[in-house]
Amino acid sequence: MRHHHRLSPGFLSAGLALGVWAGLLLTWTAAGIRPAAAARVDTLLPDAFRSPVAVAVMAGGERVVTANADAGSVSLVDPSRAVVVDELIVGEEPADIAAYADDSLVVTTLHGGDLVVVRVQGDRLVEVGRLHLGLEPAGVAVSAATNIACVTLSAVDRVAVVDLATMTVRAEVTVGRMPRFVRFAPDQTTAAVTCSADSAVVLVDTVAGEVVSRHPFKGLNVGQPDFAADGRTIWFPWTYDGGSHPSRGNIRRGWVTGSRVGKLSLDADDGAGALSGLTLDVSGQAVGDVRGMAVIDGGSTLLVTAGGTHELLRLHEPGDGEAAIPYTQISGLEVMERGLAADPSRFRRLSLGGRPLGIVVDQPRRRAYIANRLRDSLQVIDLDRFELVEEVSLVAAAPTDEAALVRQGEAVFFDAGRSLDQWYSCHTCHYEGGGNTVTFDTLNDGSTGSYKTVLPLYSVAETGPWTWHGWQQDFDAALAKSLVDTMQGPQPTAEDVAALAAYLQTLEPPPSPYRNADGSLSADAERGRLLFASARAGCTECHAGSRFTSDELYEVGLARSSDRYEGFSPPSLQGLHRKTRFLHTGKAKSLEDVLTKYHSPEQVLGLEPLGEEEVADLVAYLKSL
Ligand code: HEC
Ligand code: HEC
Repeated sequence: MRHHHRLSPGFLSAGLALGVWAGLLLTWTAAGIRPAAAARVDTLLPDAFRSPVAVAVMAGGERVVTANADAGSVSLVDPSRAVVVDELIVGEEPADIAAYADDSLVVTTLHGGDLVVVRVQGDRLVEVGRLHLGLEPAGVAVSAATNIACVTLSAVDRVAVVDLATMTVRAEVTVGRMPRFVRFAPDQTTAAVTCSADSAVVLVDTVAGEVVSRHPFKGLNVGQPDFAADGRTIWFPWTYDGGSHPSRGNIRRGWVTGSRVGKLSLDADDGAGALSGLTLDVSGQAVGDVRGMAVIDGGSTLLVTAGGTHELLRLHEPGDGEAAIPYTQISGLEVMERGLAADPSRFRRLSLGGRPLGIVVDQPRRRAYIANRLRDSLQVIDLDRFELVEEVSLVAAAPTDEAALVRQGEAVFFDAGRSLDQWYSCHTCHYEGGGNTVTFDTLNDGSTGSYKTVLPLYSVAETGPWTWHGWQQDFDAALAKSLVDTMQGPQPTAEDVAALAAYLQTLEPPPSPYRNADGSLSADAERGRLLFASARAGCTECHAGSRFTSDELYEVGLARSSDRYEGFSPPSLQGLHRKTRFLHTGKAKSLEDVLTKYHSPEQVLGLEPLGEEEVADLVAYLKSL
């Protein structure tokens, strides 16, 4: 138990003195967090942002805890007094949080790679356990009955089943690509996991350590699943992938993206479980970036957060012969049926501002708590009135001007209001500033019909020229064009563009979970590094310097006759471990495929083909960047 991890309440009310942060950083480093982690946190210290992304309510409802992505902390809130009573540093980029056993909770740290156990002792948070899982632990759910945590490892395709009594991994189960969110069924044994790259909801038996069933559909950015009280129905929000280019007509028909709620009925006819869906997009006033979900009142009411349109949605199934919520075929209806959109007893929208993400419900007290990342607050909703009744700020001090500009840019980036009829945001495609799992035609490249994978925006200001073809020489113009062409939104002001650029400059590639704990390369990756730089492979001819790119364009055998521009700009290779599809076409679904089928030294430079071990070493290196 380390009390030096604590930020005292006095410190919170006194504001964020830089000196205190610096002292904190030192003790944090001494506590054995990787140097790379400390360096990243360093850049966050001057601003006061907490950026809560997830929230848990303790048994009895007297304490609520948020997981704060930018501050690397958890905040303990007393909702009756609407104040923060304690804060504890847990590690880099907390992603999810779950409460259990009266006074305990677990937090995942996406970049720290840890599962952290924290105990709430009155008004204090105390760290009582930590397990290093690596591989980007994202979502977490706890079964109080079995004392088991189920953690999604989003960098690999697995969930870890962790025994909380012994803090050991009992099983790892392969579920599907990019698992992010998880929740236990009322039976406390089955977990529902949503995978974003395979677009599927997967049921896992955590006792047997095996997949029970898998339910795929078309889309991206799949959010939090939740169960009906009887465990036989599961709902989850996700973004539909319409596959069309972003013309005004296509956007308005829901043919580019759409916000949906999926419903999996496990007792459906054939016994395999039937998937159906509901579009949330109202004609003229769509919904952007759905993510959080809470099922209440046994299953008759769903609450869904939509970060892109800054709102909480409520869907209520009236029952008793009244018109039901019209779930249809999962790829059916593209805008919401007018009758439902105009019926507040079944569908309501509550504007919350900022970026509401995680949601948890205190059913006895009829309260929902929401982690609002961009408002840096915990929002309290009265479930019966469906109103915002309280907002608790998690920050103590106003940000510096520089930090405020970054935050303003972040708000633009995550704002679906910047697109035509608010259908989608930059984040819809560039997930958390990175890339995505499908291909899009952005109208950004002078043609229609040339679908390309989404380029991650890590360090993007330094990796010009921009776009896959590298035709774009002006960074600010690239940002404005994304808003006007890709989003079909209004022309941005110079200030919007400056803010967006300032925000993008803070997006460093995520630390690779494939490195050793001290940040060094594994033996394979080290062999790969030498090969990468050798004349034998020739990679550094085009992927050079600290960002692994160059400002020249090259023809590497992937051109199509429909291309408007000639040649391609070598993409930066940092953050590659987050990708599930490679090259501009997205044809390659693994790095092995890139190096053997589409982009081998033979194809690119006419060199000798690579041997199997050479490919494995290069892949190990590429994943470590
Ligand atoms: C519909 C999906 C989609 C949306 C929305 C979107 N982008 Fe993109 N973005 C892409 C794709 C796909 C590419 C690669 C396109 C190409 O190279 O032709 C890309 C490329 C870029 C690039 C060039 C990156 C590089 O390394 O060269 C920048 C910069 C960019 N987007 C910024 C933004 C910003 C800022 C927003 C919001 C205003 C945004 N994008 C919205 C899909 C999208
Ligand atoms: C002649 C220049 C050149 C050489 C040499 C070269 N590349 Fe590339 N690389 C490119 C270009 C251009 C692209 C983008 C191709 C496309 O998708 O249109 C690319 C794409 C890639 C990608 C896909 C990245 C992504 O985000 O999808 C990987 C991985 C990659 N290169 C690795 C390598 C490795 C490893 C080597 C050495 C074995 C190598 N490259 C050699 C120019 C080169």
